[in-house]
Amino acid sequence: MCGIVGFVGKRNATPLLIEGLKRLEYRGYDSAGVAVLSVSGMAIAKTKGKVSALDAELANHPIEGTAGIAHTRWATHGAPEQRNAHPHRVGQIALVHNGIIENYAALKMEMIERGASFLSDTDTEVMSQWLHDRCAQGVSFAEAFGMMLPLLHGAYAIVALHEDEPDTLYVARKGSPMVVGTNDAQECWVGSDMLALAGYATQGYYLADGEYAILQPSTMRFFAADHTPIQVTMQSMNVGAEIHDKQGFAHFMLKEIHEQPDVIRKTLSHYYDHETQSVHFEGLTLDPTTISSITMVACGTSFYAAQVASYWFEQITHIPVRIDIASEYRYRHPIVPKDSAALFISQSGETADTLAAMRYAKEHGAHTIALVNVPTSTMAREADSVIRTLAGAEIGVASTKAFVAQLTTLAALVLYFGGARSTLSSEETAHLMHHLSGVAEQTQQVLDEKMHYDRLALALMYARDMLFIGRGTSYPLANEGALKMKELSYIHAEGYAAGELKHGPIALVDDGVPIIVIAPDDALFDKSASNLEETAARKGNIVLISSKERVANFHGNVTHSVAVPACHPFVAPILYAVPLQLLSYYVALHKGADIDQPRNLAKSVTVE
Ligand code: F6R
Repeated sequence: MCGIVGFVGKRNATPLLIEGLKRLEYRGYDSAGVAVLSVSGMAIAKTKGKVSALDAELANHPIEGTAGIAHTRWATHGAPEQRNAHPHRVGQIALVHNGIIENYAALKMEMIERGASFLSDTDTEVMSQWLHDRCAQGVSFAEAFGMMLPLLHGAYAIVALHEDEPDTLYVARKGSPMVVGTNDAQECWVGSDMLALAGYATQGYYLADGEYAILQPSTMRFFAADHTPIQVTMQSMNVGAEIHDKQGFAHFMLKEIHEQPDVIRKTLSHYYDHETQSVHFEGLTLDPTTISSITMVACGTSFYAAQVASYWFEQITHIPVRIDIASEYRYRHPIVPKDSAALFISQSGETADTLAAMRYAKEHGAHTIALVNVPTSTMAREADSVIRTLAGAEIGVASTKAFVAQLTTLAALVLYFGGARSTLSSEETAHLMHHLSGVAEQTQQVLDEKMHYDRLALALMYARDMLFIGRGTSYPLANEGALKMKELSYIHAEGYAAGELKHGPIALVDDGVPIIVIAPDDALFDKSASNLEETAARKGNIVLISSKERVANFHGNVTHSVAVPACHPFVAPILYAVPLQLLSYYVALHKGADIDQPRNLAKSVTVE
C-alpha cells in the first residue's frame, strides 16, 4: 500500500526522501512523488511508475529543501497517473496520504460549491483543498489541520506542509500506521513504516489512532484527538538499514525462502525449552483450560496458516475451531461464543480487515490474540495477548518466511495448548517437538535441491491455468500454493480439496492444465493417489509432490514428480510449503515477472 516518508532537519531532504521511498517500494505502488520546502518556497516532482522514474526526473530537474514529504501511491481513487500521484498541492499547501477518506465525495462537493477546482480524481485532494480554503479565510494552518481531522471518515495517515512554515511537518493518523522518529542531529522523520527511518532515526513513536503531531527540528508536539497536548515516550529504534540488502540473492523472495531453516530454528528455540522439554508463551495471558472454542481470522496467506492450524488444534487439543476471512468476519455480525479465544494472524499486524475483525471480537467479549511478525504493529498494541512470529522483516511482497514462521509458531502453540489441556502427554509433546525441530534441516535439504524446481518451472511456465490439490492439512497448502503461483507468475491457479475435484473442477482438466498434487506420506496418501489417477485418466498433466520413498515407489500416471525428505505428517505443511514457494518463484523468474513487487499487489493492506 501507499508509502509515506517525511523529513525536516538541516540537510537536503530530497535524496533522503528518495532513499526512504526506495525502502518502501516493497509495499507495492504505481506512482511516486516528492515535495520539498526551502526558504524560497515549495517544489514538487511526481511521476507515474517506479521510484527510479522519479529519481530520473529529479536528476534532470533537481529540487532542494530542508523539509519534505514523499509518497508511493497504490491507486484507490483514480488511475495510476501523474496527476493522481501525491503530494497533492493546492496553493501553499501540499499533502500526502495513506488510507481512504470514505466521505470524500461529500467533502469534494462542498469544496466545488465553494469554488474549488480539482486537479486529480483522488480522495486525498479534498484535504489539500479544504486546508487551503480554511487558510484563505484567515485560519492558521495549525488550527485548520486540527479542525479538519474530525471531519474525515475512514482511514488515514497524513503528512502536510505549508510554504510559510519551511521547518514544520504536520502529521496525523487514524487507522493507517505512522511512526515519528528523531535523532541526536535534531532531525525529525516520519514514515508509514519504520523501514523508511531505519538507520536515520534512533528513537521513534507510533502515533496512536486519532493522535496528531506538529514536528520541528527543535520541538515535536503531540496532540490527542481532542487537541489536548500529550507527552509521548519515544522508544529506541534498532532496525538497521542492512535489512534492505539482498545479500547476494537475485530477489528478496529468494533470500527470504533461504532464511526459512533459520526462522524455524529461531522460533523453536524461542518457544521451546529443550532442558525442561516445555513449551512456553510469555505473551499469552490466557489460560488454555478456560476456553471452549477458538476463532481464527486472517487474510490471504495468513488465512491459510489459520486453516492449517484449525486442523491441528481440533485434532490435538480437541477445542472446536472456527476460521474466517477477515473481510467476511468483520461484516457478517458473527456470534462470538462465550469463553472463546480469537486469534488474529497477520505478518504486518496492520491489515485493515484483520484489525477491524480483532476490534469486533474484543468488543464482543473474546480474548483476542494477535499473532504478528511486527511487534510494534497496531494489532500487537491492541490485542489482549501477543504472540510474535520471528521471521524478521519480510520485504518480498509475496509472503514466504512469514508463512513458515506462522506455521511453526502455531505448531508450538498447539503443543502448548495440548499440554495445558492434557490432550497430549509430555512424551507426546516431546515426540512432536522432535519432529518439529527436524523441519529446519529438511527445509535446508529442499533448498539444496532447488535446481529441480528451476527445471520443472520451465515445463510449467506456459500453462494458462493450474490446479493445486491436497487433503487434510495439504488442502490449505494447495490454496497457498495456488495463491503464490497466481500472484507471482500471473498464471490462473486454484487450490482445491482433492476430494472436491469430482464436484466440478475436474471439468477443467485437459493436457494443458498442470495439476499439482500435494500428497505427503500420511494417512490420506492413498486417497490423494486415487484423485490423482482420476485426473490422469482425463489426460491431466500431473505433478506429484510427496516423500522420496512415495515418489520412488509410485507407479501411477504422473508427468513430473518432486521428492521431499520424509517427515512426520504433523510437520508436513511447514516442509511442503517450501517446494510450492520455489516452484512459483522459478515460474515467475522464467516468465520475467517482477518477483519482489508483483503487479497490483501491496505488502501491507491498510485499506479494506
Ligand atoms: C500473499 C500475501 C498476502 C498476505 C495478506 C495478509 O503472499 O502476502 O496474501 O498474506 O495480505 O497480510 P498480513 O499477514 O500482513 O495480514
